[in-house]
Amino acid sequence: MSGFIKQLSFKLVPGEQATELLHAQAHIWNHVFNFINSMSLKCAIELGIPDAIHSHGKPMTFSDLVAALPTRPTKACSIDRLMRILVHSGFFAREKISENDGEEGFVLTDASRLLLKDNPLSVTPFLLSMLAPTLTKPWNYLTTWFQNDDPSPFYTAHGMTFWNYGEHEPNSSHFFNDAMASDARLVMSVVIDKCRWVFEGLESLVDVGGGTGTVAKAIGDAFPNIDCTVLDLPHVVADLHGRNNLKYLGGDMFEAVPPADAILLKWILHDWSDEECVKILKRCREAITSNNKKGKVIIIDMVVESQKGDEESTETQLFFDMLMMVLLSGKERNKKEWAKLFFDAGFSDYKITPVLGLRSLIEVYP
Ligand SMILES: C[S@@+](CC[C@H](N)C(=O)[O-])C[C@H]1O[C@@H](n2cnc3c(N)ncnc32)[C@H](O)[C@@H]1O
Repeated sequence: MSGFIKQLSFKLVPGEQATELLHAQAHIWNHVFNFINSMSLKCAIELGIPDAIHSHGKPMTFSDLVAALPTRPTKACSIDRLMRILVHSGFFAREKISENDGEEGFVLTDASRLLLKDNPLSVTPFLLSMLAPTLTKPWNYLTTWFQNDDPSPFYTAHGMTFWNYGEHEPNSSHFFNDAMASDARLVMSVVIDKCRWVFEGLESLVDVGGGTGTVAKAIGDAFPNIDCTVLDLPHVVADLHGRNNLKYLGGDMFEAVPPADAILLKWILHDWSDEECVKILKRCREAITSNNKKGKVIIIDMVVESQKGDEESTETQLFFDMLMMVLLSGKERNKKEWAKLFFDAGFSDYKITPVLGLRSLIEVYP
């Protein structure tokens, strides 16, 4: 009772302190409603808004946009409000249709162009997978997980680990594998363009946890002399068929990795704890066939660092770190943490090439 009275007698302070108080309230509101950015974007994709604007071929008036969408005419005003927040968050822009009248139409931005269905590098499968209820539900269990012994909030929400869930729910697994494949298409287009030297001289490569093989296909096509093997969980590769210099192998990377000149780990180690990473890296080191200089592990993952002046990049890296904690048992690592993993697994040296945006390419030598 006395605590309650104390709360009631709390007084607002006038002047500058009141301004600070209201700023603090606005900051809290902004964070309370952060999810509205994600959900509005997801809705725009599901309604096909970027594709409708793209097909129109010129700035699209609001009435043309509404007419092109699979929505009820009575919801037109609400589409206007959806577009307003997405213009604000940089997914669409407004452009004058002609110089004479002031009429404006919607156009795409770089970000929405990357969400077009027909863009070969489309990020849409990744967006839809990450915002599917299966992957957003665990966030409601974060607090419970801090107070229990489950391996992840995902486990608390679904009663099994992320990878076991994929085995039991094939649709969810396909959805996730498509998301990974979409990321692989984009990042490999950059890797093959900017980092060819990484693969030169190699004759064989195993893509560990290589999913449905998008990365291995890109490497195999760009370097026909490299024999590529995709190692992934048996249910992921069960129905996949190799071709020319590409083959699939079902297995467990904690048990064994087949021999090759180079072992690739794209978006693998951030899924796992330090102890688990050292185990995986030891299997990889054992698998490197040649003792000559070309043998190595190639990692594509984040190297966390404070991106001075680039608040959005820093926040995105922090988002990924939290995501790894909530879905799996992993984390994003800084340079020192990476180095410790490599030396603990018995490697002698490494080189980080930060050419992949928020991620880096890391070569690790036995
Ligand atoms: C985050 S995904 C990355 C997929 C792919 N490397 C990419 O970046 O596009 C992690 C992959 O590891 C695979 N995986 C999980 N546990 C594994 C294990 N014990 N052995 C082999 N692969 C595993 C998953 O099935 C999944 O394809």
